[in-house]
Amino acid sequence: MKILLENIKELVQVEDETVPFKAGKEMANVKTIKEAFLIIRDEIIEDFGTMSQLKDIYRDDDLLIEIDCSDRLVYPSFCDSHTHLVYPAAREQEFVDRIKGLSYEEIARRGGGILNSAKLLHDMSAEELYNSAMERVIEIMKLGTGAVEIKSGYGLNTKDELKMLRVISWIRETAPICVRSTFLGAHAIPPGYKNNKSKYVDIVINEMIPQVAAEELADYIDVFCDRGFFSVEDTERILMAGMKYGLRPKIHANELGLTGGVQAGVKYNALSVDHLEFIGEDEIAALKNTETMPTVLPGAAFFLGLKLSPVREMIDAGLPIALASDFNPGSSPSGNMSLISAMGCIKYKMLPEEVINATTLNTAYAMGISESYGSIARGKVANLFITHEVPGIEYLPYAFGSNLIETVILNGEVQSF
Ligand code: NIG
Ligand code: FE
Repeated sequence: MKILLENIKELVQVEDETVPFKAGKEMANVKTIKEAFLIIRDEIIEDFGTMSQLKDIYRDDDLLIEIDCSDRLVYPSFCDSHTHLVYPAAREQEFVDRIKGLSYEEIARRGGGILNSAKLLHDMSAEELYNSAMERVIEIMKLGTGAVEIKSGYGLNTKDELKMLRVISWIRETAPICVRSTFLGAHAIPPGYKNNKSKYVDIVINEMIPQVAAEELADYIDVFCDRGFFSVEDTERILMAGMKYGLRPKIHANELGLTGGVQAGVKYNALSVDHLEFIGEDEIAALKNTETMPTVLPGAAFFLGLKLSPVREMIDAGLPIALASDFNPGSSPSGNMSLISAMGCIKYKMLPEEVINATTLNTAYAMGISESYGSIARGKVANLFITHEVPGIEYLPYAFGSNLIETVILNGEVQSF
């Protein structure tokens, strides 16, 4: 099947020569084509250019679907490289507790937080989990996301971690969105191991990782390396064990303190280090010229009222930045990447162009798929969205809270939801 998008007011994030990600000053560069066309053949972007370059051969096809994009912009779909969207239930009561003054860490210490989710998940079937997660997947697809990474981590015992990962595989097989899976057995210390954390780390290493690998249930391995959760030493042990099975690290680091998580991630060539509220010169220096993508999660910082990651400093120091949603019930109950983009501009002083790179190409890199996703490039998968009538690229992050996405195309198919 062929689709022709024509009269596109502006085709955004175009690449003639692809790059794996953009860093530093380059982040402010987004190539666009005004008055453009785009041709999709089957699931692939075949060609694009200005309307004046559109050749008649493209129109001589009986099966061609033509979509008029007058006054509309076309973007590559968002890639959301950090979510926990398979979870048993919302945690709005903790939200109220925090309004009343409790902190995220206090709630966690009282057995709420991640442990609360783990208790609920234990009693749910894989089918129930799948059905509720698919509702969230459909919601984010409508909001323009075309690729998503999903973590385990609400199981915290071998059986339940495997249950979660099988649900993620099931989503991968059945949803039109591109899915990558991350094993996060070390997300919290389960109640029985409060005074014997290293015993739990042993279980993650000796029991969970071999089974996750045997069933090929994960692409990446994650650890919540932070104050009150897992230490750098625990993290290093777990990452080394995972890497033996080919699981590349992607870790939670420096959300609650200056704990050495960033340096541990870089040491083990993590694909990304995520959160980064607590980051200083040493962390920035450690990240320079590495293959590790610094990933900021504005939804979690906003929802928990955390101090903001020094994104401007990092970009000015030449680093790349990715922005992801962290969609989860405790610290970021939203997978709305348009809203994340708006926060990037409003709270982190990123330019609209920097935010486009941070939510498409750089997040694609942070989930290992930037060869096929994250930009409008010939040969990449045709995952993109068409906006409503809007004046230009600045308008999307400016009009925060509006859904300006009119049509979603995934794998070259117009979605009807
Ligand atoms: O990325 N920081 C650790 N994990 C999640 C929160 C998970 C939860 O509270 O359920 C996060 O913010
Ligand atoms: Fe997270």
